[in-house]
Amino acid sequence: MGLDAWIFGILVLLGHSLLVIFLHNRFYSLAVDHKTTDRIQLVHFLWLCLGPIALWFLWSGQVPSPQTTDPEWFRALLWGLAAVGLIGPPLDIYLRSKRRQMTPDSSCSPLQTTQANHPSVYVGPGIWGRIAQLPGNRSLYPVLELSEVPLVGLPLALDGLTILHLSDLHIKKTPNSYFFESVAEGLATLEPDLICLTGDLVEKGGMAHAEVFRSFLMRLRFREAGLAILGNHDFWHPTQPTLNLLKDLGYQHLGNKRSTLRIRDTNVSLWGLEYPWNSELPEGWKQPFEEWTLCLSHTPDHFSRFARLGKGLMLAGHVHGGQIRLPLFGPVIMPSVHGRTFDQGWFRRKNAYLHVSQGLGGGHPIRFGCSPGASLITLKASKET
Ligand SMILES: [Fe+2]
Repeated sequence: MGLDAWIFGILVLLGHSLLVIFLHNRFYSLAVDHKTTDRIQLVHFLWLCLGPIALWFLWSGQVPSPQTTDPEWFRALLWGLAAVGLIGPPLDIYLRSKRRQMTPDSSCSPLQTTQANHPSVYVGPGIWGRIAQLPGNRSLYPVLELSEVPLVGLPLALDGLTILHLSDLHIKKTPNSYFFESVAEGLATLEPDLICLTGDLVEKGGMAHAEVFRSFLMRLRFREAGLAILGNHDFWHPTQPTLNLLKDLGYQHLGNKRSTLRIRDTNVSLWGLEYPWNSELPEGWKQPFEEWTLCLSHTPDHFSRFARLGKGLMLAGHVHGGQIRLPLFGPVIMPSVHGRTFDQGWFRRKNAYLHVSQGLGGGHPIRFGCSPGASLITLKASKET
């Protein structure tokens, strides 16, 4: 068993893993119902874990020689996976380097003060509560990011506008109500001009989860407006209780359409995008913007179109910063048609800007190398191009 066989075997395993992750991320960006999503998620997980074992047995328990493995179709499969393992990482690094990512002035600090001593307070019963407390899991350790962002094309009237961007709360048993109380306490003193919620707010679970969401929002204050859209997880159970709650607390549900907001004696054009989980892509979304536009979209997948239509700021979530971020490789779980392109933070195309929140929660409390977080953004008018 030579060195070439070992290298070949490692490339095959790497190619196999990259292929499963690639397919999983693309699939999860589609509008698919909850049950199908759960099933496919399980299939992908088993495929990821059991695939190498199956390959091993097909190899008759031997690390194969790349030249002699039989039958021919199996040899072709191995060579294909090895090619993916060889070409995939440098190609991915190149494509990610072509992104126009921005690094505005920002600072990051823990959002809570007491949790580090008592992480068990923030979990519910069951397996997910235990997983949330695994060493290295950041699910119970949220951060607050403060950033000041120069935007070309921002109307002067909006210079200095502050936005608290929250996304993907996924309120459920873990993290629990104490976690969100604690986060709300950390955010209560901010009083931004706008609070923008970009979907996946409450998980299926009836009034208990809705009440946690209500208590959380009641602690927060905005000066001008609260804006919200729903995400795929919100559409996987009846949406009306969440919409009623948002309305009760003075939040404007942008839905899947265009609207206008008056801020500082200026009309600001708004877009809400809940597509593909809410009906069809709105017809008006194909028309170029006449004014600077603030867009709340659950997925960052619409940013390319947004940048073609005009100038403005898009706020998005959905991808949770990848949930698992590996050294060198970066984010792993990225449900987006663009794969790992828009993972978290700031991106720019022409005079269109995108902020992707890493989210406060997740479908599952698994976050390694990726803290949950909230973002307080201060918009600054910039003349630089
Ligand atoms: Fe989410």
